[in-house]
Amino acid sequence: MGFYGQHVLPRLLDFACGTKSAAKLRERTCAGLSGDVVEIGFGSGINVPFYPPTVTRVAAVEPADLGWKLADKRVRASQVLIQRSGLDAQRMPYPDHTFDAALSTYTLCTVPDPAVALAELRRVLKPGGSLHFVEHGLAPTEKVRRLQYRLDPLQQRVFGGCQLIRPIVELVTSAGFTITDVDEFFEKGVPSFAGYHSLGTAKNG
Ligand SMILES: C[S@@+](CC[C@H](N)C(=O)[O-])C[C@H]1O[C@@H](n2cnc3c(N)ncnc32)[C@H](O)[C@@H]1O
Repeated sequence: MGFYGQHVLPRLLDFACGTKSAAKLRERTCAGLSGDVVEIGFGSGINVPFYPPTVTRVAAVEPADLGWKLADKRVRASQVLIQRSGLDAQRMPYPDHTFDAALSTYTLCTVPDPAVALAELRRVLKPGGSLHFVEHGLAPTEKVRRLQYRLDPLQQRVFGGCQLIRPIVELVTSAGFTITDVDEFFEKGVPSFAGYHSLGTAKNG
């Protein structure tokens, strides 16, 4: 990770991901989480205030040191025990079947290989454990898709590898998760190329 990735990008993401409309989506995504949870792409901990009281512990997986530093206030204010214990969602330092649930918000767009990260999530989740996710991804309409393909290289450069063109639900199901609930929609107020959202839960197995 260079200077931009280490010192600039985590601040940009903290700002760009901390919007009011995203807060509502985070609250919906975190609802129902319980027990031991692994959160991939923890970033600056914007989800922390939305963890329900049923969550007992969170293992935060995040490569950016500055992200973790920016999370400090949120982590300290939380009743939940939160520990940064991994750096890469594609290779997590936990034994098989460790967690009751997993959380991914706006992260499957950025991990270099989302299929590998999802397989790794399946490994560390208990059988029947749930993945809660909200992600932006490939839109269903041709007009928006054309724009997404055009802007994707620039998006990747500015937002640390974030891709606009990943088919989120397809990736989750291809990894062997069973979708239990999903809402797919264009979020109001977000430019269409980054606005197609998949918000839902999926079961391990
Ligand atoms: C768009 S940000 C989202 C941050 C946070 N999840 C949120 O909702 O605000 C993507 C995050 O994924 C992290 N990330 C990038 N590569 C990763 C990897 N291989 N494993 C885990 N996290 C990664 C980035 O450092 C960044 O914090």
